This record gives sequence, structure tokens and C-alpha cells, in this order.
Amino acid sequence: MQGMGGHDMVVLRGLILYMVCGKACIYNPTTRQSVTLPVRPVIKFSQKVKGCDESIIYYFGHDPVLDQYKILCIVSTLLTSINSLTSEHWVYVLESGGFWKRIGFDCQPHIPTIGRLCISGVIYYLAYVSLSCYVLVSFDVRSEQFNMIQVPKELSGLIRDNPIGFIEYGGKPAIFDQTYLIQMGKVDLWVLEDGGAWSTKSLVLQPCQMHLLNESIKLLVRGTTQTDEVILAPCKLFSNYYLLYYDLRKNDLRKFNVGLTSDHWFGKPYADYILFDKNESILHLET
Ligand SMILES: *[C@@H]1O[C@H](CO)[C@@H](O)[C@H](O)[C@H]1NC(C)=O
Ligand SMILES: *[C@@H]1O[C@H](CO)[C@@H](O)[C@H](O)[C@H]1NC(C)=O
Repeated sequence: MQGMGGHDMVVLRGLILYMVCGKACIYNPTTRQSVTLPVRPVIKFSQKVKGCDESIIYYFGHDPVLDQYKILCIVSTLLTSINSLTSEHWVYVLESGGFWKRIGFDCQPHIPTIGRLCISGVIYYLAYVSLSCYVLVSFDVRSEQFNMIQVPKELSGLIRDNPIGFIEYGGKPAIFDQTYLIQMGKVDLWVLEDGGAWSTKSLVLQPCQMHLLNESIKLLVRGTTQTDEVILAPCKLFSNYYLLYYDLRKNDLRKFNVGLTSDHWFGKPYADYILFDKNESILHLET
């Protein structure tokens, strides 16, 4: 966001959560209001270990029952020398007088990796608990309870080594594996079904649509539309930029030309942007 700074954006119901210098900020593009959340209390250094990498990540959740927005913050550290993980978990209710509250966590410490979905009042993301063991973490926005769901072993290796997308599909969290899309026109979809089992299916692109893919242009999954089309887009920005919409039900890929006019971002290794749905919010932000 030019003039505002910030990165690591996530959109929820017409609001954008982003980070500036480690702090969480929220912007409402409809009202053009932005707020910066207070800084989290710092855990005394003596409680922390030296020589570790710390990562901070914010998640944006909405509880449809109480119509309440919450920000979840996970601070995780990896002590590489002994290969041990720690994580702190904080919650902020977006309302006047809001404050950061540290919450208990009786699951394994973990480092979040991919995904920041919020589906029907539950935040989902992928995380690793040890070098090659991934889990899907869910956080119920209303009850503030975490839960860890095992990821099948073959999927753990896949998440570690491949360009995958973590998407909402049919109202459920899903992993979209496009490792062989450009080469062979093949994708695999893994959906977390109600009850905690994973279902999987493979799709092969229609041969007449293979020309929409270009071997020298790497694609990233940028989310899904409200009608469950998967949005794929080139990592780098260029002037005749485009998005690809993959309808998994009809097995149909279509190209949407964007055409960028500002060369401000061209040539950057990764395009840092978000796609916005039509939702507009008139919510007045208070902290
Ligand atoms: C759009 O916003 C409305 C109300 O703010 C909400 O009911 C609806 O679920 C939102 N849709 C999406 C896709 O976020
Ligand atoms: C594929 O992308 C490269 C690099 O952007 C471009 O030079 C080439 O013309 C593209 N090929 C096709 C078939 O569009």
C-alpha cells in the first residue's frame, strides 16, 4: 500500500489486516480509515532463549454469532541448535478498549507456515511441529480454542517441498497442489472433510487450455472466488499481467488480463498484493 507501508496483508469481509514494523494495522478501504493496534506486552527476555529466530504472524478472524472481529498473533521461535520450538499465542478483540490477551495452548508448539483462512468463525493455517511433520491448526474465534489436525504423511512432504496453495474450497480448508500443473496440466486437491478425514482428487486440464500456461512463468495460488474458482497468478508482476481462474468443478481454466500501467513493482521477485472480493464494510474501527 503505497504511502502507508506495510506487508503481509490479509483480507476479511472488506477489511485489510497488515503489518508495519511488527505491529498489526487494519485498514478499511471503503471508509479509508486505518488503525494501528497497540503493541503486545513483551515477555521478559529471561523467559526467552538466546540465539533463536523469532517470527510474528497475525491472523484475522470473525465470529458470525457475536459479529466480533479478533486478531490472533502467534510469536514462534526456533532454536536451531537444539531444534526446539516455542510459541506464544495472543488474541485481540477489535473493539474500543481492546487489549492483547495471552491465551493458553495445550497443543504442541508450532511454527505457522502457509495459509490464513477464516471460514465460518474458524481460522485455519498450516504449521510445522518438527522438521518434516506438518499439521493443520484451527482456532475457533468465539471460544478461542486451538485444535491440531494431523496432515497425512505424504502431504507433509508435499507441503515442505512444493508450491502448494491453502484455500477455502466448498466452505472447507483444502490444499491445492500445482506441482505438475505447468508440465503436465495436472493438479491434486486435498479437502479436509467434516469429521477430520482428508479426501483427495486429481484433475487434468483440457488439452486445448494448456496454451494458457507458460513454462517460464511460475504461478502462485492467490485464493479463491466466491464461486470456488482457484485463482492462480504469476509470481512476478509485468505489464501484460494476468490471472488464471481454474473452475475445478467444470475443469475449466480461463485467463483474465489485468494489464498493469505502473511499472513501480515490475521485476520484483514476488508480487506482494492481495485480491479483494466485492465485499465492502462500513464498520468504524475502534481500538
Ligand atoms: C461479506 O460481508 C457480509 C457482511 O459484512 C457477510 O455476511 C458475508 O459473509 C461477507 N462475504 C464474504 C465472502 O466475506
Ligand atoms: C512465455 O513467457 C516468456 C517470458 O515472459 C515470454 O517471453 C514468452 O513469449 C511466453 N511464451 C508464450 C508462448 O506466451
